Amino acid sequence: MEVILAESAERVAERAAELIRILLEKKPDAVLGLATGSTPVALYAKLVALHKAGRVSFRRVTTFNLDEYVGLPPAHPQSYRHFMEEHLFRHVDLAPERTHLPDGRMANPLEAGPDYEAKIRAAGGIDLQILGIGGNGHIGFNEPTSSLGSRTRLKTLTGRTLEDNRRFFAEGEFQPTLAVTMGIATILEARKIVLLATGRGKADAVRNAVEGPVTCVCPASALQWHPNATAVVDPEAAEKLQYVDYYRSVLDIQDGLVGKFGEYRV
Ligand code: GLP
Repeated sequence: MEVILAESAERVAERAAELIRILLEKKPDAVLGLATGSTPVALYAKLVALHKAGRVSFRRVTTFNLDEYVGLPPAHPQSYRHFMEEHLFRHVDLAPERTHLPDGRMANPLEAGPDYEAKIRAAGGIDLQILGIGGNGHIGFNEPTSSLGSRTRLKTLTGRTLEDNRRFFAEGEFQPTLAVTMGIATILEARKIVLLATGRGKADAVRNAVEGPVTCVCPASALQWHPNATAVVDPEAAEKLQYVDYYRSVLDIQDGLVGKFGEYRV
């Protein structure tokens, strides 16, 4: 997996925004896979700024988010639809009908998965998927022990994830314990994957994902099977990586090659 060692959380957001800007320059009707959580908030702020500066347009873009809680109406402040509206959608020129999140309110939530998969297929698949990572290594809401072959489906959240995300809910407020999430196999079908991780709380998960064995116990480790996955990490999240010197040398060589060979990966 390619590892980009960014100098700070701010630089993580800038690098990711740049990857999206370059993609949209080449393919203005790209399909983006988006993530929620606190990590991508800075990325969305950068994209909004690029849009306001006239450097990026989302007019022809289609988006698919990774996951949505079951049981929260879209307008609920903790729903992921609301999160995306607040941080990105309402600030840019995205067509509302081309923004998608799994439907956590279907009468039969078991149907939400196949329905979402069909929509992704109809859009031609995801060109670039943004991912955060849970402290336990989850991606989307694919908790440890999720099948590496899983598709979009209903998933029960772990106690650790509920605890990590409790900060977003008021005291005594209903916090969903179920979500509809893209599966690991669904995520791996994206043409490019960019995983963002910032802060010391992610150091173990990042090490396990990038350098550990491929195992359902760390769902993000499945990205090692992807031919075009990049982890963009800040110094704290990179703290436990064993091969930092190597990643740094790869980046130095790559910087030297860019310009000569365009987007060359070594
Ligand atoms: C949630 C989301 C994930 C996200 C994770 C980490 O559980 N479903 O997509 O990666 O939180 O969130 P944060 O970036 O806030 O640490």
